[in-house]
Amino acid sequence: MYKIFETIDDVSRYTAQRLLDRILAKPDAVLGLATGSTMEPVYARLVDWLWQHPVDLSRLTTFNLDEYVGLGASHAQSYCHYMCRHLFDKLNVPRERVHLPDGMARDLEGACRAYSDAIQTVGGLDLQLLGIGSNGHIGFNEPHTPFTSRTQVIALSEQTRIDNGRFFSDPSEVPTHALTMGIQDILEAREILLVATGPSKAGIMAELYHCGVDEALPATALKQHGNVTIVMDREAAALLPRELRA
Ligand code: GLP
Repeated sequence: MYKIFETIDDVSRYTAQRLLDRILAKPDAVLGLATGSTMEPVYARLVDWLWQHPVDLSRLTTFNLDEYVGLGASHAQSYCHYMCRHLFDKLNVPRERVHLPDGMARDLEGACRAYSDAIQTVGGLDLQLLGIGSNGHIGFNEPHTPFTSRTQVIALSEQTRIDNGRFFSDPSEVPTHALTMGIQDILEAREILLVATGPSKAGIMAELYHCGVDEALPATALKQHGNVTIVMDREAAALLPRELRA
C-alpha cells in the first residue's frame, strides 16, 4: 500500500502515529527501528507526543536494523549514538530492552547470529520501520544480498559510502563494513513501514514501483510481504504513476 503525503512533516506525523498506535495497542510490542535523516523528524514527532502524553514504555523492546563495523557507541556517527540522541535519551525504554548490532564485537559473525536469534527469542518483530538507500538497500542489505539472509557483516557499496559521506567530516572516514539485520529477518516482521522523503529518493522509488522481485534491488523483497506500507512525500513520489499521487 502506498501513502503519499504533501510534506515531510505529514509523512513524519503519519509514521510516528503508526508507531504510537502499535505501542498503545501492544505495550510489549517489539519494534524494529531504523536510522538515517528520514527518521529524524519521525522520532522528533514521536518524542514530542510522548512527552505531552506519557505512555508506559517499560515493556517495549526494540531492535535496530544496522550498525557500522568499528564505530562504538561514543562515535558521533555510530547508529547507537544516533538512536540515543534522537530517541533513547529522551524516552524511558529500559536499556536492557534496546538492541543494536555491536559493530565493535570481537566475534562479528557470532554477534550477528546472536542478534537474529534474539529477535526470534522475543517472538519476532511486530513492526519494522525502514528507510531506503539510493541503491535500494534496506538496512544495509546492499544489492544482490540473498533474500534469505540473516543478520550479517556486509561490505558497503561505493554508492552507500558516498551517500553516507555527508554525515562524516571526511567521506573517507565512512566505514567499509557494517552489520545489518538480514532481509529474511525483516520479512518476518508482522508489519513493515518503509519511509522515503525528498527528491533524492524519487528515482529509486520509481524503480522499486516498476521492478519485480529481484535481489538486485533489495527493497523489492518487500513485495513478497502481505503487510507493507510505503510512505512518501510528494517529492519522493514524483516519478510514480500520476494515479497513485492523486
Ligand atoms: C543508511 C541506513 C539505512 C537507511 C539509509 C537511508 O544507509 N543504513 O537503514 O535507510 O541510510 O538514509 P537517509 O534516511 O539518510 O536517506
